Amino acid sequence: MGGRAQHLLSTGLQERCRGELRTNEPLSAHTTFGMGGPADLFFLPADGDDLQTALPLIRESGLPVLPLGGGTNMLVRTPGFRGIVVDLTGGMKEIEIGVDQVVCQAGASLQVLSRRCQREGRTGLEFGCGIPGTAGGAVRGNAGAFGGETLDRLSWLRGVLLDSGEEIRLQQADISYGYRYTALPSDVLILEAGFRVEEAVPEAIRKEMEDILSRRKATQPLWERNAGCIFKNPPGTSAGLLIDQAGCKGLRVGQVEVSDVHANFTVNLGAGTPEDVLSVIERVREQVRQHHGTELETEVRVVGEQGMEKR
Ligand code: EPU
Repeated sequence: MGGRAQHLLSTGLQERCRGELRTNEPLSAHTTFGMGGPADLFFLPADGDDLQTALPLIRESGLPVLPLGGGTNMLVRTPGFRGIVVDLTGGMKEIEIGVDQVVCQAGASLQVLSRRCQREGRTGLEFGCGIPGTAGGAVRGNAGAFGGETLDRLSWLRGVLLDSGEEIRLQQADISYGYRYTALPSDVLILEAGFRVEEAVPEAIRKEMEDILSRRKATQPLWERNAGCIFKNPPGTSAGLLIDQAGCKGLRVGQVEVSDVHANFTVNLGAGTPEDVLSVIERVREQVRQHHGTELETEVRVVGEQGMEKR
C-alpha cells in the first residue's frame, strides 16, 4: 500500500466514520467478471451523512477515488487499484416511490428499483429489470436495454465533484447524453437521482418485464460470469452480429472465451484473468477490423494498474 493510503488511514477515516474501511480488498469479489486485483482501500459508507464526513478526508489524502456501481461493466487489471474504492451498495440504497417520480440513492440496485416500481404500479423503468448494477452506475453510463434508456427517464441527479467537494444538482435538460454515454464531469460521484414514472397496472408491467427477461435469457449467457456487452454497438449495427460474422465465437485465451450464445459477451470460465480478457478484446477487434473494416469501441471500463504480461 502506498504512502497516501497510509496517510488516509492515519487521518482516522475509520474512527470518524461509521462505515467500513477495508485494506487490500480483492475487487474480484465486487465485479461481475469475478476477476481483478485488490484496491488499496475500500470504503463502504454507512449512509449519506457518513459519506459526507469521509469525502473531505479522502480529498485531503489526494488518493485516486473509484466509485463502484456494482462492478458490472468493469474490468480491473491484476495489479489492482492504487487508491480508494467507494462502494455505495451497502449503505446508500434507499428508494422512495412517489406518484410521478421515484427517488433513489445511487447505490440502489437498478433491478430492485425496477421491481419496486412494478409492485407499486409505476411504469417507465421496466427496461432495467434485467440490467445488473446500481442506479448511479446506470446514470453514469446511460445503461439501456430493449428500447429503454436510463437518461430518458432521469429527472434530476445530485452528486459531488470529488476534486473540489462541490455539490451539484442537475436537471435532465442540463445533461447531454447519447447511446451508453452521459456527459458529466469525470470526477462526479452521483449520490441520488430522481426518475419520471407514470401510474400503471402492476400486472401489465409484470408481463412486460417477463417478456424482457425471457428475451434476455434466450439471447445472453446470463449463467456465466461476464461484464455485459464488451463493445458498444457501432452506429446502425450490432457489435455482436459483427463479431459473430467475423468468426470469433469460441475464441479463447486461457480461461476467457467469446460466448457461443452472444458474441458481444466474453465469459470467465473460472480462472480467467483480466489480461486474458484484454487479449481477447484485442483479437476480436483485429478480426472485426479485418473482416468488416469496423473499429470497435469498448463499453467495458478498464481500470487499475498496468504491469502484467499478456499471453
Ligand atoms: N447477433 C448475432 N450473433 C450474436 C449476437 C447477436 O447474429 O452472437 C444478432 C442478433 O441475432 C440480432 C442482432 O445481432 O439480429 C442484435 O442482437 P441483440 O438483439 O442481442 O442486441 P445487441 O445489439 O447485441 C443490445 C445491447 C444489450 C442489450 C440488448 C437488448 C449493446 C452493446 N448491447 O445488444 O446491452 O441487452 O441490445 O436490448 O448496446 C450491454 O450494454 O451490456 C448489453 C448487454
